[in-house]
Amino acid sequence: MGLEMWSARAQQYGRRAVGDLNIPEDHFDAATDMQWDILWPLLQGAMGGWRPRTALDFGCGMGRFTGLLCRDLNRFVVGYEPCVDILTLADPDPAIEYTAEPPPGSFDLIFCSYVLGGLEGSDLTDACAYVSGALDRLLFLAEHIGEGGSENWRFRSEAEYAAMFAAVGVKLRRIGTYLALGNEIGVFEGRPA
Ligand SMILES: C[S@@+](CC[C@H](N)C(=O)[O-])C[C@H]1O[C@@H](n2cnc3c(N)ncnc32)[C@H](O)[C@@H]1O
Repeated sequence: MGLEMWSARAQQYGRRAVGDLNIPEDHFDAATDMQWDILWPLLQGAMGGWRPRTALDFGCGMGRFTGLLCRDLNRFVVGYEPCVDILTLADPDPAIEYTAEPPPGSFDLIFCSYVLGGLEGSDLTDACAYVSGALDRLLFLAEHIGEGGSENWRFRSEAEYAAMFAAVGVKLRRIGTYLALGNEIGVFEGRPA
């Protein structure tokens, strides 16, 4: 899904643009919290007793998970979101740097939720290459897997995600699965191979 489509969604749906539009508007924040209640324990498990010094939310949207990540890690977090119309919907937070440019340098933790399903071709390979180049220690990824998807949103298999990251030197492993509106979400940890 191109950035112009994300801009159009932002203008039409506001903060809800980053989520499944079947989620009723008055349930959007509760749905985010419910997902975080699944994602955060999985992330804690992947981290073990370790905590990152630096963290990036790659394709952070309007920051629905960035703020929760920042709060629960108790760390400064960088949120990268290339669509400015989406990024302007993020709540300012002194503990978060939101940017529309891929940040330079590298990060102990890269969090990435529901981004790669919207990418194809060179956009997808460029994103994987960037993540690999910026990854110091732990990638945490959540994407639709299994049956389903649309022209704009791809559900890929665990093997496809593992292969695309293996190609850029990241070893991916599924650490959880949950259902969101009946669709299967794969949660993965990735580490430099
Ligand atoms: C479904 S939203 C998810 C946003 C956020 N990660 C979340 O879970 O709320 C997908 C986001 O990916 C962003 N995006 C699109 N192309 C991207 C790219 N090449 N690299 C990083 N993010 C991209 C979109 O602008 C959009 O905000």
